[in-house]
Amino acid sequence: MNVLLVGSGGREHALAWKLSQSPLVDTLFAAPGNGGTALTATNVPLADTDVAGLVDFAKANAIGLVVAGPEAPLVAGLADALAQANIPCFGPDGYAAQLEGSKAFAKDIMRASGVPTADYQVFTDYDAAKAFITAHALPMVVKADGLAAGKGVVVAKTHAEALEALHDMMIARSFGAAGDTVVVEDCIVGEEASFLAFCDGETVVPMPSCQDHKAVGEGDTGPNTGGMGAYCPAPVLPDTEWERMAALVITPIVRTLAAKGHPFKGILYAGLMMTADGPMVLEYNVRFGDPECQPLLMRLESDIVPIMLACASGTLTPSLVSWSPKTALCVVLAAGGYPGSYPKGMVISGIEEAEKTPGAKVFVAGAKLEAGKLLTTGGRVLGVTALGDDLASAQANAYTAVSSVHFDTCHFRRDIGDKGIRRSAK
Ligand code: GLY
Repeated sequence: MNVLLVGSGGREHALAWKLSQSPLVDTLFAAPGNGGTALTATNVPLADTDVAGLVDFAKANAIGLVVAGPEAPLVAGLADALAQANIPCFGPDGYAAQLEGSKAFAKDIMRASGVPTADYQVFTDYDAAKAFITAHALPMVVKADGLAAGKGVVVAKTHAEALEALHDMMIARSFGAAGDTVVVEDCIVGEEASFLAFCDGETVVPMPSCQDHKAVGEGDTGPNTGGMGAYCPAPVLPDTEWERMAALVITPIVRTLAAKGHPFKGILYAGLMMTADGPMVLEYNVRFGDPECQPLLMRLESDIVPIMLACASGTLTPSLVSWSPKTALCVVLAAGGYPGSYPKGMVISGIEEAEKTPGAKVFVAGAKLEAGKLLTTGGRVLGVTALGDDLASAQANAYTAVSSVHFDTCHFRRDIGDKGIRRSAK
């Protein structure tokens, strides 16, 4: 079967690496792909949101499975357009993808499904939102409703900050139409965890928990990024809790969407806050996390293609999915200045050496392959990932591998996994 993978980040290199191991795959294409996918797939110069172009390519190349890496093509209706052409898609339809594409939609579905989440109000009127914020207890969270490249969420410690965020979203329209609707919600505190599950519209098969590191600096300091590293499993949500967690935060959403005629097919990712009062959902994503995908796929022992086809066709069973008992940890290497502006075009060296470390694999995120050299193109450049018998050994292996890699201005967090190690030691 020919497979088309959509996207261009570290998550997509990990997906390409895993998909290319399947004996079911004849030719793997990546649109647009990156310097990592180029090693195991044929890159195709199509933007990940070019739905018509992707469908035409799939039809012309006898594609038997389309795998959506990021959310944008799903929100833009890729799965719906592929369904019209009878091409299986791993990823939900445009209606269900609003779980990520619209924060107001997600909160309303959570409320309707009885999923624990922070109290909130949705506003399309600026003056009404202003009055609500002025009377709201601190801190609070102000969110632009639509996709805003991870930047549309402000945790405000003062009313002035919250009002500034509101003005920025609704009046200055810094995020365009994404900020025309705004969600204001209570701020909840605790330790975060990422909980993902394969879904086929009815059946839910949970994955081991992960923990992402969103802040750029060690000790969770500095501005938020797309994620500076992740490990799996996360001791804050042990394997013994999977089933209970799936019943609490995944299955109710899948049931609600099925009842609305939009069975959720693909990955439902719950961003959790483990609060003193129990787990609460911060947000849903409708795809693998990046960088959570990298450690998860290092641990996935099964062929991923039958899992994806089963999700798309409504035939998922737990027996299709098995995991290595090891721990995996990913350290993201970023270009200087990221998450602000950063230079590009730096030569990357040392990947072969890094991969000599036991259990290590380097996934390319923001880099292209040119004349046999990898050159940086993005802020998050590489995800150096390693397996270990436990979290401490996965961490040691990953950082040993990191020490072999070089590009100018490279920076990374040196504490990926520390929180989990501290928790395990308690
Ligand atoms: N790592 C967070 C995300 O993928 O949204």
